[in-house]
Amino acid sequence: MAQLWGGRFTKETDQLVYQFNASISFDKKFYRQDMEGSIAHVKMLGKQGILTQQETTDLVAAIKEILQEVEEGTLEISHEYEDIHSFVEAVLIERLGDTGKKLHTGRSRNDQVALDMRLYTRKEILETDQLLEEILKEILIIMEHHTDTYMPGFTHLQKAQPVTLAHHMGAYFEMFKRDRLRLADIYQRMNYCPLGSGALAGTTYDLDRYYTAELLGFAGPSLNSMDGVSDRDYLIEYLSALSTVMMHLSRFSEEVIIWNSNEYQFVEIDDAYSTGSSIMPQKKNPDIAELVRGKTGRVYGALISLLTTMKGLPLAYNKDMQEDKELAFDAMDTVKGCLALFTGMLSTMKFQKQRMEASAKNGFTNATDAADYLVNHGVPFRDAHGIVGQIVLYCVERGIAIDDMSLEELKAISPVFEEDIFESVSMKTCVEKRLTLGAPGTEAMKKVIELEKAYLSKDWKKELVDWEHALMESEVK
Ligand code: ARG
Repeated sequence: MAQLWGGRFTKETDQLVYQFNASISFDKKFYRQDMEGSIAHVKMLGKQGILTQQETTDLVAAIKEILQEVEEGTLEISHEYEDIHSFVEAVLIERLGDTGKKLHTGRSRNDQVALDMRLYTRKEILETDQLLEEILKEILIIMEHHTDTYMPGFTHLQKAQPVTLAHHMGAYFEMFKRDRLRLADIYQRMNYCPLGSGALAGTTYDLDRYYTAELLGFAGPSLNSMDGVSDRDYLIEYLSALSTVMMHLSRFSEEVIIWNSNEYQFVEIDDAYSTGSSIMPQKKNPDIAELVRGKTGRVYGALISLLTTMKGLPLAYNKDMQEDKELAFDAMDTVKGCLALFTGMLSTMKFQKQRMEASAKNGFTNATDAADYLVNHGVPFRDAHGIVGQIVLYCVERGIAIDDMSLEELKAISPVFEEDIFESVSMKTCVEKRLTLGAPGTEAMKKVIELEKAYLSKDWKKELVDWEHALMESEVK
């Protein structure tokens, strides 16, 4: 047991209490962010003359050294300490003596942990955005290759109208694109530095909060110290965005599972992304897609958990907030894992063009177009709908498609039909006539693909300055 606050206590902490209270087993995950925050804090204290030049230089060098040793694995983060903050401070004191004891001047663990979690989340946003960008690139490749791969479009999981694989994939492109926009938006809104909020009421030291914020790549300091230590909105927003990513991945997984089934055979999942059965030798199961669908639950769980933890917390810091970490970390890791695996599965998946087209041909996906033919020949839409309904019934009874009927059979139901009906209800026509922007017709689709390419060519992350490099290299003032 090693803690920072023994002074006013006369008894040892109960062992169980200590364990219940400690967070090092999970907050060690942001050791890097904790030390980066400390370097910025020390540099600011030095600039303000609160630490001497020598103390500042020594502290910065020692923190960098600890960081390097932890990264190389030569210094182990000991679970003897209550949290990562105590661990770093203890090692500093061990190495620098009294100078080490000055690290925490003008700072509380409340603003420290608020900073650490924010820095960690910000890094996570960038990594997840990268993975989203990769899945988008993969989807775009499929779109480019399949502008004329016809397949049934569904409503109620019943065949509705023919579309193309490019069009179907384009829907997911839009979803993941919105996910990225949400991340960029959250990043901007959260990018204010809480360090300097102190325990809750700031501090009496003359801190330069603008300088600390700048060193850490923030747009500026947060403007209320009570809010600074107790705001976890950004994390709730991020978990909500991650939940939406998972919802999209889960819908996509569900479709891959259906498409990969024996009945559909629209796709074949690569052996590397399938698993077998211990008893049924014929099985090739879509486990990855199923797991992604299944893991959606735990990400939603993290969001609901944090919303519930925060509900009813009085200002400012409360220990409840320590509960913001474990499930959030789990959700962040889960989403990154799912995105990477799903992209791999997608890039190796084979699309069975013929199966898709054959499926689009039956199931009356051209019934709307047959009705539109009649409308174009002067029949009111409601009557046309009724006539085609009769045709469908006629076909169902005989087990044939509209295209299989003879002109005589069609004319017997409505004399309006002429030879050109067959061209009008061919699958190619049904798709290619749909040329409104956002529709599956090849020409419309190509325009959209160009727009999506232009979108992908811009990356909001590139505009962010490399603050980590600047922080580590900048002179001690
Ligand atoms: N482990 C704590 C947390 O995650 C750090 C802040 C501790 N502050 C305090 N007043 N006990 O929230």
